[in-house]
Amino acid sequence: MCARDATESEEEPPGPAGRSDLGLTAVSALHGFGIVPDKVTRLRNLTRCAVFKVIAQGQTYALKLYPREYDAAELGQEIEFVRQLKRRGCSVPEYRTAVDGALYVVTRSGVRAAVYEWVQGRCLSVLDDRRLVLVANLLVAIHGSACGPIGTRSDGWVWTETLKCLKGIRPPSDLKERMLRVTRAGRPWSADERLILCHGDCCPKNVLWPAGSSVPVLIDFTNSISAPAEWELAVFCADVFISAANPTELDSLSRKVAAAYVTAGGTCDFGRVQRFLATAVVQRAILKAFNCAGHEKRAIWQRLRRTGSTFAA
Ligand SMILES: Nc1ncnc2c1ncn2[C@@H]1O[C@H](COP(=O)(O)OP(=O)(O)OP(=O)(O)O)[C@@H](O)[C@H]1O
Ligand SMILES: [Mg+2]
Repeated sequence: MCARDATESEEEPPGPAGRSDLGLTAVSALHGFGIVPDKVTRLRNLTRCAVFKVIAQGQTYALKLYPREYDAAELGQEIEFVRQLKRRGCSVPEYRTAVDGALYVVTRSGVRAAVYEWVQGRCLSVLDDRRLVLVANLLVAIHGSACGPIGTRSDGWVWTETLKCLKGIRPPSDLKERMLRVTRAGRPWSADERLILCHGDCCPKNVLWPAGSSVPVLIDFTNSISAPAEWELAVFCADVFISAANPTELDSLSRKVAAAYVTAGGTCDFGRVQRFLATAVVQRAILKAFNCAGHEKRAIWQRLRRTGSTFAA
């Protein structure tokens, strides 16, 4: 999840992209990849990056535009990470190289653009036990394939971003102190722990389920960070919990996911998953509330309140 920019004015309305400035930017970026589009459609995402579905000569691609101020080194690292995973057989999209051999294109307005494989599938907001296991399998494959930190990517911005979002959402007073404590504390692991390259935003919205295949595809590596595997699992469980209309209890959900991860060959300490959950649920609640419409916020606060007793001292 790439957070919506608090200083941005109106979001571009979704629709045929060719009519808007951003649509023109999309078309010019595609030229940098040697793609002359027949149809470009902006997808409905409320976040700062704009995602398009592109059809060109019978092929379908995804195009993601990153705002000017987006860190160029981080974008390069993100794409390099996904490429490594793809080479090692993980179920992630294939990225296209620009005509000049670059990983991404910088348009005249400074917007950066990446083009990758379109996945014909859907996101499911509710994941049954079988699908939870399939996601856990995918995470084990990804964690086992990442060959260590790429470049100097730091996770500091995740926490800065969370704090920035907190300032933009005005949470209810009974939750505010808990949120401030978590965002000020930052990451819940220490720098000398064994860290692996994680997706960082593994959640149902970033998992696509292609029709006719039981293997999900993980997209959106914009938040990839070096973290303990247990943090990745905690983020996933926290997001499933905070997003669900009728959430099952966090404890049983996290036990299930951690057990599936271990069964698939991953190493994780369930106690650490549980400890990270305290931070992860608050962080996901803040990011989700910042990126959603007003009436959805109330439901998020209710779900967050439900977790209060789980983490009471
Ligand atoms: N390669 C792809 N194939 C099919 N659909 C895609 C692809 N990439 C993105 N999408 C769709 O676009 C949505 C937004 O893409 P992405 O997750 O990369 O951006 P985002 O800025 O995090 O937006 P959000 O937080 O709303 O998910 C995804 O949830 C998915 O539905
Ligand atoms: Mg996403």
